[in-house]
Amino acid sequence: MSPDTSNAITVADRMVALQAVADGIRQPGGCGNAICQTRTQAVPGSGNPQPEIVFIGEGPGQKEDQTGEPFVGAAGTFLAEMLASIGLERSDVFITNIVKCRPPDNRDPMPEEKTTCTPFLDEQLAILEPRLIVLLGRHAMEYFLPGLKISQVHGQPNKKGGRVYLPLYHPAAALYNGSQREVLLADFQTIPAILAALQD
Ligand code: URA
Repeated sequence: MSPDTSNAITVADRMVALQAVADGIRQPGGCGNAICQTRTQAVPGSGNPQPEIVFIGEGPGQKEDQTGEPFVGAAGTFLAEMLASIGLERSDVFITNIVKCRPPDNRDPMPEEKTTCTPFLDEQLAILEPRLIVLLGRHAMEYFLPGLKISQVHGQPNKKGGRVYLPLYHPAAALYNGSQREVLLADFQTIPAILAALQD
């Protein structure tokens, strides 16, 4: 039998590597920020280890902090409905956040919390190698596409550094704002065509 000289990363390799990142996030002290001390559970992210799409939100809320899973509250239900509307399930994609521990009282993540936590996200993306990275809300957008305004660029694919990003309104914000909700629903429907255009 000839030796396997391929450099392809297998799904099993990706699962092992993702688990190692999740272990680092869950270790006592996490990334060293105070929110790693006040968390109930860290929320590394979950889903398909070899996904076409990764969704990135802001940070865990109360329900996520209790369960250790991303997007399991009202915003998560809305996200699951939007996924279903384009023929996808949560298990088809990978879902994670900019910060992996809950900011108390659902406040915005602070700049230093984002700075110390995002190396975990960078590692996850290097393992997952998705075709499309969907940025849910301004915190996710600011990290990858700084200087843009989500109200101006939502729904527009943005190629940068060999990756394709799609900024969308955050489901939690859109849930309670009728016009943003309509815009988010319409933007979401463009995802299959964007993906199809990215096939090699
Ligand atoms: N749940 C998450 O996991 N992330 C968000 O940004 C909002 C809700």
